[in-house]
Amino acid sequence: MNDAGDGAGVAGAKNFSPLQNDPTELIARASRVQQDFRIADRRIWPNAYLAPMSGVTDICFRRLVSRLAGGRTGLLVSEFVSVQVLAQPGSRENPKAVREMAFTEEERPFSIQIFGADPERMGQGAKIAAATGCDFIEINCGCPAPKVVGKGGGSGLLKDLPNLANILRTVKRSVDIPVTIKVRVGWNDDLITLFETLKIAEAEGAAAFVIHGRTRAQGYKGLANWDLIAEAKRRAPSGLPVIGNGDIVRPADVLHRLETYGVDGVAVGRGAMHNPWIFAQIADLYEGRMWKEPGKDDYLWVFREYEELLREQMDLDLRVLGKLKQMAARVLKGLPGGSLARLSLLRSQSVEEFRGHLFAYFDGIDSVERDYGVLAELNGGESTEVAAGNTYKN
Ligand SMILES: Cc1cc2nc3c(=O)[nH]c(=O)nc-3n(C[C@H](O)[C@H](O)[C@H](O)COP(=O)(O)O)c2cc1C
Repeated sequence: MNDAGDGAGVAGAKNFSPLQNDPTELIARASRVQQDFRIADRRIWPNAYLAPMSGVTDICFRRLVSRLAGGRTGLLVSEFVSVQVLAQPGSRENPKAVREMAFTEEERPFSIQIFGADPERMGQGAKIAAATGCDFIEINCGCPAPKVVGKGGGSGLLKDLPNLANILRTVKRSVDIPVTIKVRVGWNDDLITLFETLKIAEAEGAAAFVIHGRTRAQGYKGLANWDLIAEAKRRAPSGLPVIGNGDIVRPADVLHRLETYGVDGVAVGRGAMHNPWIFAQIADLYEGRMWKEPGKDDYLWVFREYEELLREQMDLDLRVLGKLKQMAARVLKGLPGGSLARLSLLRSQSVEEFRGHLFAYFDGIDSVERDYGVLAELNGGESTEVAAGNTYKN
């Protein structure tokens, strides 16, 4: 069963709307699901957290999400960091790696995700990453980009499981903080490696096992296979948290995955780009109350706050503008007139012009009731929401 929540398959995703969210029912369901898990002795609550996304979940986006949720983000993870870069002699100061590993106290617990294929380098990279004071290290076994896979890293590790085991062992030996791994279910339909990687995670003492329910061959197309994720959870020892990932866009989806597939937690990727409030929403449900749907002021606050966070990191107006456009492309999807507004926003030549279009759009609409069906349809289709040119994909 692969569906998008509340029994609505993606084909039927058009048929659901937030109005179907009966608050009493959602709160009752939330009170019955597992709401936390542990990575070693650290409690992760809520158990729905932001999945790492290179080019998206940088320090600015993570802080934005954390602020929207009043700090209730469970866990935040860095973008993937190359150990090739990290562990080169003299490259500790590599500006890209330093930027990717930077975090603030408000983001704790914070995990740095590393990728590579050489066990020694992975160990050295993990040590450098751990020296930042982060709480966990995660090993990336999912990146499908040819330039990563071609060197044996990311999902390339799924084709060399002895090396994956060696990497996990070496990284664990190199640091004294917990190490987690994030895998895809396999290379392709003929090479499903999920249960082997689970065994490796168990044997080598991973502190959590995160599963993106697609194969490498799928990229981001089609739906995540939650049946496989559920089977991995059934086979996992009780001390190893299993986190499912794929196609979650609304709090109801989180509940549905926890209820139906028995995972200890979920990670939310693209859904959080479209709905950065999702962690606040699920945390509200867990605390026994219905969330408030974002209004116009909330949308405007998000853009204002994000711009401030971006300006702390970037001097160039054009870079700030680029990130604001990236946000607009996602956050306005499913809003009334959102497509037209996006066109003018994305054509803006300056932040001032962008702001002007943004205010004009929100001034000109009566309601910001969102069509979540549009968001659910973004997953599972043939088109992918990963922008062409994104280094994580190509
Ligand atoms: C733009 C983009 C960048 C990504 N970068 C990373 C990454 O650096 N590390 C990682 O483990 N997964 C990365 N992923 C995969 C996501 O973490 C997640 O596994 C995937 O998007 C499926 O979840 P979703 O259906 O909720 O989006 C990326 C995904 C996207 C769309």
